[in-house]
Amino acid sequence: MLGATVAPSFAADKIIVKIAGMKPEGEPETVGMKLFAKYVMEASNGKYDVRVFPNSQLGKEDAYIAQTRKGIIQICATGTQTSSLFPAMAMLETPMLYDNLEHAHRAMNGETFKLINKGFPEKSGLTMMNAFPLGFRHFYTKKEIKSIDDLKGLRMRVPNIPLYVEFAKQLGQSGQPMPFAEVPSALDQGTIDGGDSPFSDITALKMYEITKNITLSGHILVIHSLYINNDFFNNLPAEDKKIFTDAAKHSAEDVWKMAAETEKKAVEEITKGGGKISTPSPEFKAALVKAGQGTWKLFYDTVPNAKEILDSVKQYQ
Ligand code: G3P
Repeated sequence: MLGATVAPSFAADKIIVKIAGMKPEGEPETVGMKLFAKYVMEASNGKYDVRVFPNSQLGKEDAYIAQTRKGIIQICATGTQTSSLFPAMAMLETPMLYDNLEHAHRAMNGETFKLINKGFPEKSGLTMMNAFPLGFRHFYTKKEIKSIDDLKGLRMRVPNIPLYVEFAKQLGQSGQPMPFAEVPSALDQGTIDGGDSPFSDITALKMYEITKNITLSGHILVIHSLYINNDFFNNLPAEDKKIFTDAAKHSAEDVWKMAAETEKKAVEEITKGGGKISTPSPEFKAALVKAGQGTWKLFYDTVPNAKEILDSVKQYQ
């Protein structure tokens, strides 16, 4: 539908498929992309040569999403950045929604995933193939955070996504929108006081070396997904379509299994590396829930089936 450049390139007898992502090596998004590539290449007996470009090698997220829509890249991995194309996608990362990882896993394998996606392919030219959990976001800050009041007034990096900007506002912070790849230099230069990220990012970028205080707020579960160009996908022969769909499902299941272990290992690594981990008090947690739910207004204003989506999550508790 969008773009004429959807035909992939051919190398000898192989069809080259490019996948772009933003996260470094070893992170769940990159691991997921590589597993997907491996499964497609194995199941197709090498008909497809799936090439993975993590760590913003093909540009920062907004740029490679645009290229995937045009079909210059066939697949990309990203998160709620796609809410700029279709507001419901932000609901993948609704703050303070899930009780735990298992709850989210069931919702992403069920109705919630389907309801969020309703109408997305037609609007965006992309199809969301799966859901990789990257982990729950925690605050990393130079200053020690003991209560919700300590978060107020901080210059915190936020992804350039309205949901995140609104959440920072609800917390009384000065949200500084920037792409993920710019975070390390912003921390080095001191233009931000901290931010929030899942453990996988906090350890990969060793954020705890600069912002020593990690507050286990767990306020948002980050969900990244593989998005495939519709024209490319719809033109695949039926048996190859199934190979791509199955590979997306299997790679996601592998990443859900990894997610729980990553949390345990990260705590050890951060502590050894001189980071200080603190657990919010019940009052602090309650204030986070209030701030998180304060962002839900954004959904009711922009997503026609927002209530249905939020209600659907309850059945998976
Ligand atoms: O899903 C969007 C989310 O990944 C943005 O966060 O920190 O990866 O840019 P970040």
